Amino acid sequence: MNKKKILILGASGFVGNAIYKELCSYFDTYGTYFTNRSFSSNQQFFRYDLQEDDVFQILEKVHPDVIISSLRGDFSAQIQAHQHIMEYLMRSKAKLYFISSANVFDAYSKFPSYEYDKTLSESVYGRLKIKIENMMMRMPSEKTGILRIPMVFGNASPRIREIKTSLEQHEPIEVFPNLIINVTNDDKLTQQIHYLINRNKTGIYHLGSSDLIQHEEFIKEVIKRMGNYHPVFKRVYTTNEDRYLAALPKYNKLPKNLLISCQEVIDHHIPV
Ligand SMILES: NC(=O)c1ccc[n+]([C@@H]2O[C@H](COP(=O)([O-])OP(=O)(O)OC[C@H]3O[C@@H](n4cnc5c(N)ncnc54)[C@H](OP(=O)(O)O)[C@@H]3O)[C@@H](O)[C@H]2O)c1
Repeated sequence: MNKKKILILGASGFVGNAIYKELCSYFDTYGTYFTNRSFSSNQQFFRYDLQEDDVFQILEKVHPDVIISSLRGDFSAQIQAHQHIMEYLMRSKAKLYFISSANVFDAYSKFPSYEYDKTLSESVYGRLKIKIENMMMRMPSEKTGILRIPMVFGNASPRIREIKTSLEQHEPIEVFPNLIINVTNDDKLTQQIHYLINRNKTGIYHLGSSDLIQHEEFIKEVIKRMGNYHPVFKRVYTTNEDRYLAALPKYNKLPKNLLISCQEVIDHHIPV
């Protein structure tokens, strides 16, 4: 059997590792880690430091058919690494899926955003994502997939762990009452990515829930699911009007069984 070779950059992280676990039984899957030494004895993993190492070396070693970029780290080093990945794409048969973010639209606040809306961000994080997306858009279209994702939840997610710690220590939990978002969880997100790889899909995908919810309401519902807590909230108002941070699909839709709603993301959290 001729299995596809997959390389996940940032496979020791929350999102990257969830993708690794979803794919490793079906594909010849490799990953990178940086500080998380628990992967150091795993033959499928390579140590990679954005600021010190050239990503070429790993690409030449693995010869992946599919590269998934799920990294954090120094912004200019991320840009340089992705420039090198683009060069590699041009001289190989590989494709790149880039984990981008709904933050590429964080300057547009009055409506949710769709795949081909113009990106504009007020944050350095959003601008970094836009810069890498723009590099990808200059590549032949069959080479790249831009996956814009909202906040990712799940029982093991850093966001939920942070909430648990605040609950246990009776610290206030920040909520944004006039922020309207969509959300997702690690399980659905990784199934969606698996589908895109199987079908050789490229282009822009908005991989969040199909519906919207207020940030405050969502966090309150998740906490209710987590158990009998008495949370203290700190309400943060960034504007007077409702503001949207949501990337919804319109053109590149996934099959029904791969869609998720905010309620399903809430229900996914088991009591702790
Ligand atoms: N989590 C979300 O809700 C969310 C939402 C939208 C978009 N995203 C995007 O998804 C991607 C992954 O996010 P995440 O939440 O999974 O982050 P994460 O858990 O912090 O994982 C980041 C990954 O990058 C690696 N890394 C960090 N600094 C590095 C460096 N200098 N050189 C090489 N590798 C380095 C980490 O390695 P070590 O852990 O081994 O050090 C880890 O594998 C990011 O691009 C993020 O923008 C995430």
